[in-house]
Amino acid sequence: MMYDANYFRRFIEIFAKYLEENKEYLTRLDAAIGDGDHGINMDRGAKAALDRLSSTNPKTPGEIMRTVGMALLSSVGGAAGPLYGTIFMRMSLAFGNRDKIDDKNLATALEQALLGIKGLGKAEVGDKTMVDVWEPVVNFLKENIENGRTLPEICEEVVALAEERMKATIPLQARKGRASYLGERSIGHQDPGATSSYYFFRSLCEAIGGR
Ligand SMILES: Nc1ncnc2c1ncn2[C@@H]1O[C@H](COP(=O)(O)OP(=O)(O)OP(=O)(O)O)[C@@H](O)[C@H]1O
Ligand SMILES: [Mg+2]
Repeated sequence: MMYDANYFRRFIEIFAKYLEENKEYLTRLDAAIGDGDHGINMDRGAKAALDRLSSTNPKTPGEIMRTVGMALLSSVGGAAGPLYGTIFMRMSLAFGNRDKIDDKNLATALEQALLGIKGLGKAEVGDKTMVDVWEPVVNFLKENIENGRTLPEICEEVVALAEERMKATIPLQARKGRASYLGERSIGHQDPGATSSYYFFRSLCEAIGGR
């Protein structure tokens, strides 16, 4: 399938809605193993992104992602601001000035975003971060899309995998970010960044429906 500017706008709107609805939840998760700001940070960032989208009205998928990335970089502090900012900036670069994105372009852009996250934060799978969701989900997407399947066809599996990997952060001990300062006390809590990443992939899938 082809993903146009309207699809990416819808994706941002849905992601922002999840972050708003789950602001308290994300904040509670971060209060357990961090400083309790992840929900507030992400909700503020998403609102800044929506504001900037409506004031600048970018026309291509790449411009939309860049606008969101810039808004996140300038409004979300801490670890998540630069990490999510990088995700959107990398995707924007990968999209270039195409009017429409196909499944292969999308998979490549998400892979670039993952490389951006890992380059910046140096986390690996198992460190109890957003990488625990991003890496397996991106690998799954890449493999399936290379084999000729499309995102709509695999969305149910994508969302299920993201949810499973998010929950799999619970028994882990954090080795990166603020949560790592807690050592063994970080065990038994779900990682907030892995949780917001689950909403990211869920939004990517729900935007297909065109609601
Ligand atoms: N090095 C890292 N690599 C990848 N993800 C990371 C890294 N450090 C933190 N994270 C993710 O960021 C989330 C925390 O985001 P949050 O918005 O709460 O930033 P923060 O940790 O409070 O930032 P800071 O500690 O700099 O104030 C974690 O749950 C984790 O998923
Ligand atoms: Mg925090």
